[in-house]
Amino acid sequence: LQYFDHMQPNQQDKEPLLAVNPQRYSSIYQENDQLIRAIRLYAKRNVSSKRYQHIKGVVKTAKKLAKRFLVPLDGCAIAAWAHDIAREWDPALFGTYLEIRGYAPHEDEIANPIFLHGRTAAIILKERFGVVDSEILSAVTHHTLGNEELGDLGKVLYIADYMEPGRKYITKEFFESLLTQPTLNHLIQTIYQELSAKEKDFHPQTIAFFKACRLE
Ligand SMILES: [Fe+2]
Ligand SMILES: [Fe+2]
Repeated sequence: LQYFDHMQPNQQDKEPLLAVNPQRYSSIYQENDQLIRAIRLYAKRNVSSKRYQHIKGVVKTAKKLAKRFLVPLDGCAIAAWAHDIAREWDPALFGTYLEIRGYAPHEDEIANPIFLHGRTAAIILKERFGVVDSEILSAVTHHTLGNEELGDLGKVLYIADYMEPGRKYITKEFFESLLTQPTLNHLIQTIYQELSAKEKDFHPQTIAFFKACRLE
């Protein structure tokens, strides 16, 4: 009750329950806002301005989806700000960086080291920003190919990365139509249909992800 004492009545209505007693996501930063600011700054310093614009678009879209489908808002924002922070590394560096930390890249990751930018970003989140939330780390790790283990937060990031307004293939109408879908799985199935029309070969991990998101 005390929490609301200093708030205007209309503020109470604006943010749904998500904003009350939010989970703290970092062992280093006291407040999620501080954490988010630090990751945003890190992103700005480590990617081109074009990619930073993309990241901003993903954050905006992820927050919209979080509110629409009642997924923790701060968690989605953190995952979205962080997902591409390692995207502009020299791909030759991913292998060693991850091997030192006990991860042995798969054959397809050795052939396409850029697949490893999500996993690398997740490690930066953990080591540098003190984030240990498994949903966030998994979302960031698997944002490129998807993965059957992804929960709602991971689905939000996957969808936001695909449909952020900077993406050329997303018209305003298609964007709005995506937001009217009844569930995250419906959204994923719509994206799957769009992708199937253009792409023939999906990564096995992506196929497993789309299967896991099948409508009941
Ligand atoms: Fe990415
Ligand atoms: Fe991205």
